[in-house]
Amino acid sequence: MKKWSLSLVLVSLLILAACNTNETPDTSEEAPIESLSEMEALLNTLTLEEKVGQMMQPERSGITLEEVTEYNIGSILNAGGSHPNNNHLASFDEWYQMIESFQEAASASSSTIPLVYGIDAVHGNNNVYGATIFPHNINLGMIQDGSIIEDVAAATGREMRALGMHLNFSPAVSVAEDIRWGRTYESMSQDVDIVTSGMTHYLNGIMPYAIPTVKHFVGDGGTYLGIDQGNSILDEAAIRDRHLPPYEAAIELDVPVIMASYHSIRGVKLHGHEYWLKTVLKGELGFQGVLLSDYNAINQLEGDFKTQLTTAINAGVDMLMQPFNWKDAYYLIIEAVEDGDILEARIDDAVLRILTMKETAGLFETPLPALDTSQMYSADHQAVALEAARASMVLLENSDALPLVDPTIYLSGPAADHVGLMAGGWTTFWQGNPDPDIGVGTSIQDGLDAYGDLTDSYADADTVIIAFSELSYAEGAGDTMTPTLTGGLAHPDNADGLALAERAQADGKTVIALLVSGRPLVLGSATDHFDALVAMFLPGSEGGEAIASLLYGTHDFTGKLSYYWPETIIDLDIESMRDNYRYPLGYGLTLTDE
Ligand code: BGC
Repeated sequence: MKKWSLSLVLVSLLILAACNTNETPDTSEEAPIESLSEMEALLNTLTLEEKVGQMMQPERSGITLEEVTEYNIGSILNAGGSHPNNNHLASFDEWYQMIESFQEAASASSSTIPLVYGIDAVHGNNNVYGATIFPHNINLGMIQDGSIIEDVAAATGREMRALGMHLNFSPAVSVAEDIRWGRTYESMSQDVDIVTSGMTHYLNGIMPYAIPTVKHFVGDGGTYLGIDQGNSILDEAAIRDRHLPPYEAAIELDVPVIMASYHSIRGVKLHGHEYWLKTVLKGELGFQGVLLSDYNAINQLEGDFKTQLTTAINAGVDMLMQPFNWKDAYYLIIEAVEDGDILEARIDDAVLRILTMKETAGLFETPLPALDTSQMYSADHQAVALEAARASMVLLENSDALPLVDPTIYLSGPAADHVGLMAGGWTTFWQGNPDPDIGVGTSIQDGLDAYGDLTDSYADADTVIIAFSELSYAEGAGDTMTPTLTGGLAHPDNADGLALAERAQADGKTVIALLVSGRPLVLGSATDHFDALVAMFLPGSEGGEAIASLLYGTHDFTGKLSYYWPETIIDLDIESMRDNYRYPLGYGLTLTDE
């Protein structure tokens, strides 16, 4: 494919400048030229149409290669569960070839500006079958050693770059204040300081390899009742105090992209919220990067599509994730500029931010990083995923049951032999991979099998291990008013697991409960039947090996709760949980605790 060279672009820009001014340009390539002015010069060569094309982010399946060329498309979205050739088992080569053709189409456009390929690699490069699946953010929040988060982010970035992808719609810096929210597991903590510190490690880890997106601006985890895309009734002081700090820290680190949130603050949708986007984010906090809209979120604003686009762009949105109606958006934005409803200066500002993001990420030199399949699920990345999974599990109860010593184990429960459930949402598909075998990883059963004695006979066992689970879900599909062990989105087989725990307890066996879930679940009296209880959350592909090593005590538990664990289903928001909890934030036993 056509290789990009910044010096080539520069030389042509300088010649162009010479034509305009009749002055002899200094063509010395050694002369240091400020990157911003290079991008300003590039911007000045673009037509309005080319500029608007740069602002578009269609979905990979919603645009042809010819259209990428014709419309000077600036970015492609790879939505959750969208795969090359609509094949979720697509090979690494197929992924790379698809991205290569998009990049070739961009280089054939009139502006020849490389496009940026964006994907939700929210726990590893999770749409790609065969990629390492790291623990979800909720697990990262439980980890005490920040360098592990940095390693996870770096490995994720490497598995993106290895396939030619640039832009990650991660990390979410949501502070999930109400665990009824379906996106709780995308949030590292209910405590904003833990989120800010985890995010800082994440950004440091990923930025050498991929462009991160900090999302969803601002206060997405603070909606009333935890309703996804709902309304926040928090006042400004609370938002500034409990939700804004990660963005302040991210801007200090020059984060290139921030995504706006679907939700509303006191009835006003963030995508049209001038105060938060323009006055606070770009004004007061001085954010110089790209403000990206969320998937079709602009269509939730008031008025017809042209009005919605005008509102969002005038409020500060720079790049538009409009997966399938991008072409309508393109023409309507041009019309709005011609009508004077959007100033061309605003378009210039948006495009300069986009070009600068591309320049900083090295896209003009290397539009397409080399294919490197050796990175995918490499031994190194498996080791990182294992360490992260292990460091994130929290021991909640232990009445002398752990570590296991020469047990004969009867293992049961819906997550017992199911890597898909340990991976959770945003794995292969948007709502998660329903298969027990997701192509990578070790199930709990395989993990325990490697350490000791598992039996199929309940009668022969002295120890019963039950792996309870929630179903996999993502976004609003995960909202529930009853996050309990057997209600809401709990796996239907949890009820049988609970009955087994009661029976095993009555039979004098040691009962160990494991919980695979995207949030803390109200446990009621279930814990009366458990001798030990471990919260595994969503540990990813290496969760089985991690839990086995902890149960057998070859490694000790270090994970600490980054959430309050609720006592009842009445107290599920942060304000009530602080006063009435089963386990406090910060809680977590070790194997040597009495
Ligand atoms: C989510 C974003 C995500 C986007 C692209 C939206 O539904 O809210 O977090 O990045 O989809 O997949």
